[in-house]
Amino acid sequence: QTKYRAFPPVALANRTWPDVQLTRAPQWLSTDLRDGNQALIEPMDPQRKLRMFQMLVKIGFKEIEVGFPSASQADFDFVRLLIEQDHIPADVSIQVLTQARQPLIARTFESLRGARRVIVHLYNAVAPVMRRVVLGLDEDQIVDLAVTHTRMVRELAAQQPATEFLFQYSPEMFSGTELAFSKRVVDAVTEAWGANAQRKCIINLPATVEHSTPNIFADMVEWMDRHLARREAIVLSVHPHNDRGTGTAAGEFALMAGADRIEGCLFGNGERTGNVDLVNIALNLYTQGVDPELDFSDIDEVRRCVEHCNQLTVHPRHPYVGDLVYTSFSGSHQDAIKKAFAARKEGEIWDMPYLPIDPKDLGRSYDAVIRVNSQSGKGGIAYLLEAEYGVELPRRLQIEFSQVVQAVMDDAGKELSAADLWRIFEGEYGLAE
Ligand code: KIV
Ligand code: ZN
Repeated sequence: QTKYRAFPPVALANRTWPDVQLTRAPQWLSTDLRDGNQALIEPMDPQRKLRMFQMLVKIGFKEIEVGFPSASQADFDFVRLLIEQDHIPADVSIQVLTQARQPLIARTFESLRGARRVIVHLYNAVAPVMRRVVLGLDEDQIVDLAVTHTRMVRELAAQQPATEFLFQYSPEMFSGTELAFSKRVVDAVTEAWGANAQRKCIINLPATVEHSTPNIFADMVEWMDRHLARREAIVLSVHPHNDRGTGTAAGEFALMAGADRIEGCLFGNGERTGNVDLVNIALNLYTQGVDPELDFSDIDEVRRCVEHCNQLTVHPRHPYVGDLVYTSFSGSHQDAIKKAFAARKEGEIWDMPYLPIDPKDLGRSYDAVIRVNSQSGKGGIAYLLEAEYGVELPRRLQIEFSQVVQAVMDDAGKELSAADLWRIFEGEYGLAE
């Protein structure tokens, strides 16, 4: 259930452009334990993997890519641990990646014995540079490679009737491939899987490397959405990376362009500049009044877990979660925020200057919103004294006291806390015993 709507209704009230917006959450897949993990300086050990998995489940992910079991013994063992120790809730599907090579597919199925619900994720590269330079295969041979291995997955899945298998295919480097060829491969794979409206498969379109502006990627997704031979038999997924720093925009545009599902990582971990940041996409939806169906109501808990598991810190200015994102240093911002808090009534839409989201919705507090440094004005100083010490300064005194504070800051050259302000206030006006 959506908790609130942020200010866009106000901003959009007088719009003259067509209303293209996301109105519901996509199907989410976390690949923190696969694409994220493979990009870590020090890959997660089993304890950290399990902690990440449990956090992803707690957030609400129903599809979680847990590894590449045929490529790594550690990933194989982790898949076995999840299955044998019964860590996978009944409504969660694990996903495993495999290349289109027979021994690797066979090994992948070995890792899956006893699983309840699995997505087998098959991929092979389709881009011209990979065909020509790396694989040495022509277009017909690439189609044949994809089809042959799809059939193999289908046969092996049929031999394990106790497991519910879903099939996913990724034409790797879709973003750098001729559209007509991507369509040809995907149509052939969809047919080989025997997909229909009752037995859908997932077709995942990766921007393996982000080469173009986000609208171009979205146009490519839209073209596929319109031209695939069996669209009704497909869950259309995207897998943006972030090489140009526009992964979030690419993901959002791709969803607007017709994708049903998106793959990415928490806070944008992943190869090179990362996979698309799913927290960013989810909370962008939230601020537009759309329930993301993922729970970030204690975002600091999620962050602590991710930082521990990835051994990477989240940047202090990272959208929604960074240490500094609910902090205002500028006096005019502080003043505006103070006035808006004072005028705000409980339950109103969030129409707050300089704060795109109510920090409380993510388990953050207003306490850190206003700090005082050399850029601050009297508003921030007055706000802190009132909020922390219940002292309401008359306007004349606000002006006078802010000059005192400014002089101290010019000397000290550092940020002051509410406690520092109170000490200065007591010293200046003789309140101390
Ligand atoms: O980025 C990519 O293309 C991938 C594929 C394996 C889906 O991670
Ligand atoms: Zn990837």
